Amino acid sequence: MPTPSTFAPVALEHASRLINHGPTVLVTSQDGARRNIMAAAWSMPVEFTPPRIAVVIDKQTFTRELIHASGTFGLCIPGVAAIDLTYAVGSVSGREIDKFTHFDIPAIAGPVLGLPLLETGCAAWMECRLIPEPHTEDAYDTCFCEVVSAAADPRAFRNGHWELDASNGDLHTIHHLGAGNFVRAGDSIKARPLK
Ligand SMILES: Cc1cc2nc3c(=O)[nH]c(=O)nc-3n(C[C@H](O)[C@H](O)[C@H](O)COP(=O)(O)O)c2cc1C
Repeated sequence: MPTPSTFAPVALEHASRLINHGPTVLVTSQDGARRNIMAAAWSMPVEFTPPRIAVVIDKQTFTRELIHASGTFGLCIPGVAAIDLTYAVGSVSGREIDKFTHFDIPAIAGPVLGLPLLETGCAAWMECRLIPEPHTEDAYDTCFCEVVSAAADPRAFRNGHWELDASNGDLHTIHHLGAGNFVRAGDSIKARPLK
């Protein structure tokens, strides 16, 4: 019996907001019995509707192999609570170990594509279908995808917006500075009209 999701669905027209501010993400992938998870600091939305995203995924990674085999991948958005996990899965290849088993990572099955998705320590996730672009994949390791389902922890993302404050610090998204150093999002500032 798969673990049920505890997240609330995010409308697809709001999915790009989940990564608008450039958080480090976890890329999950599965092809048959093979599954994997890696960290990626380089992702961005490229279209609101349908929601489309570009992620740099090095061609040497096991993740790329599974994505090309299945045509799908998941994007999970870790919070502060998952910093150690994020760095760990970004520091070893799934060709050497099953990272889900090795690091005791609890996965749920995505509702549309059945991808392994992480909710513990995470603030949101998306299931994505690869948009094949052989040139950008080969030349720039950039993989484009369309989001087909999304959900978020309603403590941190509700009514189509992040609401990061002192009440949900463990879910504040993380941003990689390099070498395992991160800063967290959460100091929200509203822009005011200049005139
Ligand atoms: C914080 C962090 C961010 C990373 N960002 C990226 C990235 O944007 N693109 C990428 O290809 N690799 C990135 N990496 C490296 C991969 O996560 C790493 O090569 C991983 O071991 C690949 O796993 P795999 O072979 O199991 O797919 C990052 C690593 C860390 C720790």
